[in-house]
Amino acid sequence: MKLLSGAPGWTTTADVIVIGSGVAGLTTALNLRSHNLSVLLVTKARIDEGSTKWAQGGIAAALGPGDTPDQHKKDTLAAGAGLCDLAAVDVLVSEGPEAVRKLIARGAVFDKSETGEIALTREGGHLRNRILHAGGDATGAEVSRALLAAVQEDAGIEIIEHALAIDALKSATGRVCGVTLHVIGQGSLDGVGRALSRAVVVATGGLGQVYSQTTNPAVSTGDGVALALRAGADVADVEFIQFHPTVLWRDLANRGQQPLISEAVRGEGAILLNHKDEQFMVGKHPQADLAPRDVVAKEIFNQMRISGQPHVWLDARKIKDFAKRFPTIYASCVANGIDPTVEKIPVAPASHYASGGVRVDLNGQSSIAGLYICGESACTGAHGANRLASNSLLEGLVFGARIADALAKDLPPQEQPVEDSKTTLLDPKIVIPLQIAMSEGAGVMRSESSLRKTMQTLQELSKLTSNQPRIEAWEASNLHLLATAIVRSALERTETRGSHWRSDFPDFSDKWQVRVIEKFDTDGNWHKRVEQIK
Ligand code: FAD
Ligand code: SIN
Repeated sequence: MKLLSGAPGWTTTADVIVIGSGVAGLTTALNLRSHNLSVLLVTKARIDEGSTKWAQGGIAAALGPGDTPDQHKKDTLAAGAGLCDLAAVDVLVSEGPEAVRKLIARGAVFDKSETGEIALTREGGHLRNRILHAGGDATGAEVSRALLAAVQEDAGIEIIEHALAIDALKSATGRVCGVTLHVIGQGSLDGVGRALSRAVVVATGGLGQVYSQTTNPAVSTGDGVALALRAGADVADVEFIQFHPTVLWRDLANRGQQPLISEAVRGEGAILLNHKDEQFMVGKHPQADLAPRDVVAKEIFNQMRISGQPHVWLDARKIKDFAKRFPTIYASCVANGIDPTVEKIPVAPASHYASGGVRVDLNGQSSIAGLYICGESACTGAHGANRLASNSLLEGLVFGARIADALAKDLPPQEQPVEDSKTTLLDPKIVIPLQIAMSEGAGVMRSESSLRKTMQTLQELSKLTSNQPRIEAWEASNLHLLATAIVRSALERTETRGSHWRSDFPDFSDKWQVRVIEKFDTDGNWHKRVEQIK
């Protein structure tokens, strides 16, 4: 199955195609170059678009005095609520410090304490201060700046901006051997074409745009996960959508990307209050306001139900020099008419992160030969049912390096693609009703009836097909495929765990200490199975 598109009008080649220019794609590209492989880096908007540049809180790594990878592992496992793969967490926490040192060597500059050491803060779920940050709350912008500078200096990396990857190309042996791309305005590479390679690395980030309100930018439409699904790859843990507890509440009329108020604000002393001015997280979890994200998001949702108000409050008035420590957040609050140094900030949960994605092994290899996945699009098993704060940038750094090493050891010759004639395409008109249905029925809290209603809406929307290939239609079709995968897995998991909250199955169940895997066959039929946690 592939998306309807025009006939390819051009062909280009490279050893490896990397799709996406966030932390995962850029790190993979740079590491491939240290093995002397040629890289084609394609990205669907401007090169700095994506979640990476928006990251606020920082990067978690056991670099502080007395901290160890083992302590980082314990916190990661606790947040992951029994679904983390131990080997993946071991890789993340033990290779993390070196990956961060390499990022620093590549030019990223982190904030320092008064004594000149790297300053470390705390976020939800961490039992100690281990989050490196840059520009106060502009960590992602600094990571993106440093990696982009290195990539742009490397003549062995060809970059194509405004290049949207539509579908994987497969050879007669079933190996992925390239992608179809739609490029806007790059001279001879214009319109739909074919990029051929010996392997493809998908690093297209998250899928926050499946919901009406999200912290994710507009490009986060899950294209790479949908591309992998259509190529027949396994996806896992997609029901675990993380809702960030503290997103600036403006108005439900505001759709799309919303301003984040980093967890680091609570790490520096801000507290959550309900409409009776009670510090409602106290007594709910030993870490109170700094409990793992799923716990705080659920309790905020409860408080909103009790009060009938669309938000709770975050009181950051006691933080010294707020505007200096959190300049981005201060500016976005002020732009929305709130001065956080003198008034409370209205906050509510919004979709933030896909803890699941395309199922991969410890080298980023998916279930399809030649197709590798890195960053938020991947399910390495390191996050389980709920990602620990600031482990995502780290995952891109660690697994980007591992994928490059694995490809350097085993990269078969180029194979030729064979045509797949089955096509599909949906009308972009489906996007808003899809987002509303997902927010209402498959959001922070779900139940069998809300999920079935959402699935019914998705089935109705699937009838709105289109015969006009264009960016909005490809993105709409991808969002629909992912929404369907999320609802199917959420219906399957009849328990509450991590960021999957079923009102009709409020308890955790040992029976469900397994991973739900889904795939889509060439005839468009869904298959699901469960996998034991390793
Ligand atoms: P992205 O950075 O999202 O990059 C994806 C890339 O793929 C983009 O370049 C995009 O344009 C491109 N792309 C998408 N589709 C296509 C296509 N079809 N064809 C071609 N290109 C495509 N994590 C932390 O660890 N610490 C934090 O402090 C933190 N704060 C966050 C704050 C915000 C507001 C948000 C939204 C996220 C935050 N996260 C944080 C999560 C983290 O930023 C992301 O998970 C991470 O940056 C994902 O990196 P990535 O490289 O996988 O994807
Ligand atoms: C934040 O700064 O609160 C976001 C951190 C993350 O998503 O890891």
